[in-house]
Amino acid sequence: MPSLPPTGPSAFPSPASSAPQGRAAVLCGLAGWVPPRVVTNEELSRRLDTSDTWIRTRTGIGQRHFVEPGQATSDMAVEAGRRALRSAGTDTVDAVVVATTTPDRPCPATAPVVAARLGLDGAAAFDVSAVCTGFVYGLASAAGLIAAGVAERVLLIGADTYSSIIDPDDRSNAIIFGDGAGAVVLRAGSPDEPGAVGHFDLGSDGSNEEMIMVAAGGSRQRTSPGEVSREDRHFSMRGREVFRHAVTRMAASARNTLALADRKAEDVDHFVPHQANLRILRSVAEDLGLPMDHCVSNVESVGNTGAASIPLALTDAAARGTIRPGDNVLLTAFGGGLTWGSCFLTWPALAQPGLPHDQGEELAS
Ligand code: COA
Repeated sequence: MPSLPPTGPSAFPSPASSAPQGRAAVLCGLAGWVPPRVVTNEELSRRLDTSDTWIRTRTGIGQRHFVEPGQATSDMAVEAGRRALRSAGTDTVDAVVVATTTPDRPCPATAPVVAARLGLDGAAAFDVSAVCTGFVYGLASAAGLIAAGVAERVLLIGADTYSSIIDPDDRSNAIIFGDGAGAVVLRAGSPDEPGAVGHFDLGSDGSNEEMIMVAAGGSRQRTSPGEVSREDRHFSMRGREVFRHAVTRMAASARNTLALADRKAEDVDHFVPHQANLRILRSVAEDLGLPMDHCVSNVESVGNTGAASIPLALTDAAARGTIRPGDNVLLTAFGGGLTWGSCFLTWPALAQPGLPHDQGEELAS
């Protein structure tokens, strides 16, 4: 088995890996939303050669949520975004950033239509594409906009409709992924106040792009009717190798971030990793020397929701009162690209969000 490239401290002395100074982005709103349709392991087992026991044992996943036909990433993003704005007590932002692997269309980006539907016309709006690391990359991008004085307030939404790119007959991937959206609002503040997001570690390894990909539909392999195989149209993943890279990269990135923040693993009250699968989370937590009760996980109820997974896990934990003001929180993600990233913050006093599956109100049209 080939060894992984080195995973020492980030090789790039970019602003993304340096401590914040002066103006910082401060978390002031949080929310999540998953569509009402629940797809249980039993339901998948009726169609695929798999079982609830196999799925739970290998991934820790018990169910996932899928959008209804006709619903797209922006529909979920609007719902999560609306809730996050309400949580922040604001109806204006200067920028809307949508982290997604499943935009509504190849062109244009999904963020502008989300902004328009939220009544945020005129705000800067763009997508971030970093697969399951998208939320952490988006957080760094939003923090950069605020630190540079380009924006006072940013709405960042992680939203993915994996059901639109997974081959429903591919039992290896169909069991893992679900749909959902999570959102945060960031405002300008100071680096030493609770909620300030600051110490980031970001990285990538494009030499392994084939490990997680949708082969066709871009400029490399164009989609012409009748020319693209079913396999190339859908999401593919080399599960075992991804597992190994995910554990190594997430643990290294988490360590780098703790070092940048001048913290130790024992300072972490809540480790909130990308919810890839429970075995990956356990392995990373163990590698870092963190007890599992410090590891936030909602993967059992939503599966792997890509760029939505960290804000959904945060929303779930905040709604249940698990994460409280003053707690130290470490976010770590890994995804296609390959990409990885982490961020450390102290939890601020926020309006308590509702649980992502509480529908409360109709999906915005
Ligand atoms: N049900 C039953 N059997 C399944 C199955 C399923 N849903 N999916 C695969 N299998 C079978 C395989 O066909 C294979 O059978 P074989 O030994 O007869 O060939 C066997 O299980 C082992 O397959 P393998 O892919 O090696 O299993 P695994 O133990 O690596 O588990 C994953 C598969 C996908 C669960 C695991 O690799 C994984 O979790 N990878 C990381 C995925 C992930 O989280 N990605 C997100 C990162 S952002």
